[in-house]
Amino acid sequence: MIGWLSRWWGGGTPAVEPASLRDAGRLAQLHGASFHRGWGESEFETMLTERNTLVHRLRLGRRIIGFAVSRMAADEAEILSIALDSTERGRGLSRDLLLTHLGHLAGRGIRTIFLEVEENNQPARRLYEWAGFGVIGRRERYYKQPGGEHLNALLMRRDLP
Ligand SMILES: CC(C)(COP(=O)(O)OP(=O)(O)OC[C@H]1O[C@@H](n2cnc3c(N)ncnc32)[C@H](O)[C@@H]1OP(=O)(O)O)[C@@H](O)C(=O)NCCC(=O)NCCS
Repeated sequence: MIGWLSRWWGGGTPAVEPASLRDAGRLAQLHGASFHRGWGESEFETMLTERNTLVHRLRLGRRIIGFAVSRMAADEAEILSIALDSTERGRGLSRDLLLTHLGHLAGRGIRTIFLEVEENNQPARRLYEWAGFGVIGRRERYYKQPGGEHLNALLMRRDLP
């Protein structure tokens, strides 16, 4: 019984699903824990109602443990954010999230996808390289840190077949 309950609550097979308005609070919580300029619940509510924004959630049992957000314009899209709960990182769970997200973008007619990533963010860079993104540019001192430090951004691109 306890084993079944724990599988139902926190375990089981990860599922990638379209996010709904009811997820806005949890997505804001995950975003705020991952980035120093967190997006609030109302920002997620807005994105979840916009037709040009695609939001997927990663669910493990009853828990939402990650999300991916993209904005689309004509046949191009930009990945605005992807994040996992810090306790779930490091075991490849973001791969299925990203691939499913890319598949849905392709289904919407998207042919080219861009993103920006902090140059030293190795987990994110490795994930994107694994998913077929290549570096196409570098922006010096692009991200300002809370302490005043500036970090470089890489611009990455992937074309979809
Ligand atoms: C980026 C993120 C979504 C990746 O999710 P994840 O499921 O933990 O990623 P993985 O477990 O597949 O690890 C990705 C790769 O980084 C590597 N990695 C993990 N931690 C690392 C570290 N500290 N230094 C170097 N490489 C690291 C892993 O070994 C893996 O490499 P591999 O594919 O060659 O095995 C997750 O780390 C996260 O939520 N980060 C905070 C938010 C963020 O930075 N988002 C990206 C914004 S652009």
